[in-house]
Amino acid sequence: MEEKRLFAKKDPVSENMAIDMERIPHHIAIIMDGNGRWAQKRHLPRVAGHKQGMQTVKTITIAASNLGVKVLTLYAFSTENWKRPSSEVNYLMQLPIRFFSTFVPDLVKNNVRVMVMGDIQRLPAKTQQAVNDAVADTANCDGMVLNFALNYGSRDEITRAVQEVAAAVQAGTISPEAIDEELVSQHLMTAPLGEFADPDLLIRTSGEERISNFLLWQLAYSELEFVPEHWPDFDAESLKRAIIEFQGRHRRFGGLKNE
Ligand code: FPP
Repeated sequence: MEEKRLFAKKDPVSENMAIDMERIPHHIAIIMDGNGRWAQKRHLPRVAGHKQGMQTVKTITIAASNLGVKVLTLYAFSTENWKRPSSEVNYLMQLPIRFFSTFVPDLVKNNVRVMVMGDIQRLPAKTQQAVNDAVADTANCDGMVLNFALNYGSRDEITRAVQEVAAAVQAGTISPEAIDEELVSQHLMTAPLGEFADPDLLIRTSGEERISNFLLWQLAYSELEFVPEHWPDFDAESLKRAIIEFQGRHRRFGGLKNE
C-alpha cells in the first residue's frame, strides 16, 4: 500500500534523508502538469494521461493526509483549459464524477474534507452534482482539506474580488481607506481555508517553470518547486522528496534569516 511504502525501509529517499514530521508544510498546492506528455510517450491518447493522473490524485491525497498536511490544493481545470479540443474537455469534465463515485468512502475513512474553488456554475450539471455531493458527504471530516481548483483562474478570482470590494465601497459599507491586504484576502476563493489560505509550498510537475494563472496573490511567499516527473509518475516518494527540499529552504518573508 502507498502509505506503507512511504516509510518503507527500502525507500531510497527515506534511507538517505529524513523528513521532519514537525515541519510538514501546512498547505501544499500542486499544478498537475504533464498528463498529455506521459500519454504521448506511451503512444496513448492524451486522455489516458488524465485517467492515470486521476489515480495519482488518489495516491497523493492519501500520502499528504498521512503526512499531516492540512490543505492540499490541486489545479484540476483552469479557466483557460476550455480552449482544448471539446473531446478532451468533455473527458476532463467526467473525471470528477469518476473520481468521487469510487473515492468518497476512502476520503471519509481518512477524514479528508473536499472543498472546491472556481466558477463551478459553468461546469456540466452532472459534474457540479458530483462535486457538490462530495463536498456534502465529507463536510463532517476535520482532517486534511482536499481543495480542488475547478474552472479556476487567479485573474478571474482577483477580478471578482475587486468587483465585490468596489460594490461595497459604492454601497457605503466600507471606505476606500479600509481596504487592506486582509480585506482583499477575505474576498478571494481561498478565504474559507482561513489561516491556511496561502500555500507554503507550490509544486509543478513536468519541468515547466510557470505559475499559469494559479493563486497569484496567495503564492507571494510560497516556496516554489518545479519537478521533472510527469504528473502520472509523481508518487508518495516524490511528494516526500519535495517536502524534504522545502524543509531545507530558509523562508524569510522579506525579513532577515535570523529574525
Ligand atoms: C495538465 O496536463 C493537466 C490537466 C489540465 C488536467 C489535470 C487533471 C488531472 C490530473 C485529473 C484530475 C482529477 C480529478 C479528480 C478532477 P497537460 O494535459 O497539460 O499535459 P501536457 O502539458 O503534457 O500536455
